[in-house]
Amino acid sequence: MITSSLAERLRKTQHVVVFTGAGASAESGIPTFRDALTGLWERFDPAQLATPEAFRADPSLCWGWYEWRRNRVIQAQPNGAHRAIAELSKHVPKLTVITQNVDDLHERAGSQDVIHLHGSLHSPRCIDCGLAFTLPLTSDVLPEDGRRIEPPRCCVCNGYVRPGVVWFGEMLPEDAWSVGLAAAEGCDVFLSIGTSGFVYPAAELPLRALGHGATVVHINPVRFDISSQEHFLQGPASVMMQSLLREAFG
Ligand code: OAD
Repeated sequence: MITSSLAERLRKTQHVVVFTGAGASAESGIPTFRDALTGLWERFDPAQLATPEAFRADPSLCWGWYEWRRNRVIQAQPNGAHRAIAELSKHVPKLTVITQNVDDLHERAGSQDVIHLHGSLHSPRCIDCGLAFTLPLTSDVLPEDGRRIEPPRCCVCNGYVRPGVVWFGEMLPEDAWSVGLAAAEGCDVFLSIGTSGFVYPAAELPLRALGHGATVVHINPVRFDISSQEHFLQGPASVMMQSLLREAFG
């Protein structure tokens, strides 16, 4: 439930951080990772698809899977949560959006300078020399199961082009992490939306914000344990974000 003190806190804030996970894009039809039955990691093995070793072992399997995901994102539209987050920036002095998501739905809803902690499906690069590669905007939804697609080759060194996402065992992009951490530690309201909080170091951000005195609010349809200083709004991201905006700003 959105209390009047929480709405008041948001009205008086100087700097809000919105931190999103896969649940923020779920209502756009993008599958999460760990939801029972529908989560990607329930159906696919991350060891075969989401590590540098997996890509080197079977580049076509890996590339085909990420192309399937990229095409789903191209076909998807931002949902009410993405739009409410973009709208929030008009009401508060400063808003920083930090996402673990590799889609571009925040940007397409109007958010600017989004910090992508886990990279992006839309920014592939050469696995050997790191040169950025531009992909065409295709919209055919590819079959998900085991369709191999040979990755493009780098025009400079002929290395394979790899997806621009952060894989297990890889470091987060340094700038994204340092700017995101500074925002978490400097904000006064931290909204953590649609994340299971299992993947570190990203999952440290709400704790860092709390440790620096921010009001931390979790938004999720599935209740989980939080400390007595944190807040929980139970429900889908679009509904809860729109209600929060309505309560705080009318
Ligand atoms: P998860 O799949 O682990 O968690 C998604 C969360 O969203 C769960 O807590 C759901 O209950 C919640 N959820 C589902 N539908 C929702 C809705 N409509 N509104 C709000 N919340 C909803 O996804 P992440 O926490 O984002 O890493 O996973 C973190 C990282 O693990 C991902 O960035 C990815 C993955 O491996 C990389 O790709 C590097």
